[in-house]
Amino acid sequence: MSSVEDLKRQAALEAVKRVQSGMKVGLGTGSTAKHAVIAIGEKLAAGTLKDIVGVPTSVATETLAREWKIPLVPLTSDLTLDVAIDGADEVDPRGDLIKGGGGAMLRERAVEEKARVFVVIVDQGKLSPKLGSSFALPVEVAVDAVTAEADNLRKLGAEVTRRGGDASPFVTDNGNAILDARFPGGIDDPRALAESLEARAAVKAHGLFLGMTNVLVVAAPDGVRVRDVKP
Ligand code: A5P
Repeated sequence: MSSVEDLKRQAALEAVKRVQSGMKVGLGTGSTAKHAVIAIGEKLAAGTLKDIVGVPTSVATETLAREWKIPLVPLTSDLTLDVAIDGADEVDPRGDLIKGGGGAMLRERAVEEKARVFVVIVDQGKLSPKLGSSFALPVEVAVDAVTAEADNLRKLGAEVTRRGGDASPFVTDNGNAILDARFPGGIDDPRALAESLEARAAVKAHGLFLGMTNVLVVAAPDGVRVRDVKP
């Protein structure tokens, strides 16, 4: 029986097969993406990959990539990435995602939008019939607006908690707070929800990554499946 950790690693190794010498690569965040960063570092050390540059999606990933001596460049407006590899918290049948379990979704989106190919790597436990049915939607908000934004999310039907609680509130890489919004029964219309969140000035990011996945890699005990979601 494969452990979940093995499955995460298998998905990551499958995705890293798409990284070739000379590529610019978006480096995701979290316990699955970590395996991809390490695999790229190992290949660079072994000389089987050369001239890679990475763009990390979080401070944690930047630290890990530096440990593995992956050359990094900042995200600039004219930079196009050949590929970005990242995990997800939930994946629905369309390949739409909830991300942000690690609180890094603002930079994840900024990097992954710039990738020609966004490869999502998950173990089978992340598959979901409807977004929000097993994972609360992370919403990154300005610290001053926590109460107002929590109220707005409740009006939209969510049960809301501030990540970390009031005693030790979680702070994102960008200095913001995270509200985790659980929608009982799941999110009926993810596109409408994303639009209404994006219209609010104090919402800095949210975890709905819709229509972004190009390739979905799912690791299960009986093997790794690769699905081309979007050309
Ligand atoms: C980080 O903010 C997230 O979007 C992660 O990519 C996501 O939570 C998946 O993380 P794991 O691979 O650790 O489950």
